[in-house]
Amino acid sequence: MQTQISRAVLGIIIMVLLAAGVCAQGPRPGEEKKLFTSKVQAKSDTEKKILTVLEDISQNQRRGTMSVPLDDGRILRLLAESIGAKHVVEIGTSVGYSGIWFCMALQQAGGKLTTFEIDANRAARARENFKRAGVDGLVTLIEGNAHEEVKKIKEQMDILFLDADKEGYLDYLNKLLPLVRPGGLIIAHNMTRSMADPRYVKAVTNNPDLETLFLNMEASGIGVTLKKR
Ligand SMILES: C[S@@+](CC[C@H](N)C(=O)[O-])C[C@H]1O[C@@H](n2cnc3c(N)ncnc32)[C@H](O)[C@@H]1O
Repeated sequence: MQTQISRAVLGIIIMVLLAAGVCAQGPRPGEEKKLFTSKVQAKSDTEKKILTVLEDISQNQRRGTMSVPLDDGRILRLLAESIGAKHVVEIGTSVGYSGIWFCMALQQAGGKLTTFEIDANRAARARENFKRAGVDGLVTLIEGNAHEEVKKIKEQMDILFLDADKEGYLDYLNKLLPLVRPGGLIIAHNMTRSMADPRYVKAVTNNPDLETLFLNMEASGIGVTLKKR
């Protein structure tokens, strides 16, 4: 009887020790968020200069500009750099925050950004920010109503980024999809249930030439659509 009890106690001790060992491999409660929060590391002086301006826009110019959040900017850079984008077209420049994130990728690939803004004041601030970040040479900023102005684009693009009037996304898609290269991406910001235009969502999810996923849906909602090869 005594031996049976000792065996049971020993078994419990071993299980507790094993469980503790397993738990020790993972982050402690409360540390998880910190573990998965990475800071952007500048690889060069060029990146450092760009990141300084992005930080300044984020800290001091965010009010009323509707710029994408930091992590969304990082996603844009990551997508652009990973497909080796050479030409990004952005609808909705605002003061240039997302555009500068794209430029972080484009300056590596020798690429360029064409960006559209209807508001003259924001366009002027964007020009200033592009200059301060040292990426103005990569950027063509077209001022005016993008629904009209995009008709002038004749060049192929690797990425079409939609971040202006939400009810206009379908029109931009219809006008510019033929110019997105096979293997290129259409990225749509603010694809949450309350903000997305259902007509756009249907257009990118019901077309067999396209493959679409919605990321970051618990935050801003980003539609990423691949134009199949
Ligand atoms: C959400 S903000 C863009 C934010 C920017 N992409 C960023 O993350 O830094 C949308 C911008 O689109 C512009 N916009 C709205 N309708 C437009 C149109 N028809 N043509 C061009 N720009 C437009 C607005 O003036 C506004 O600055």
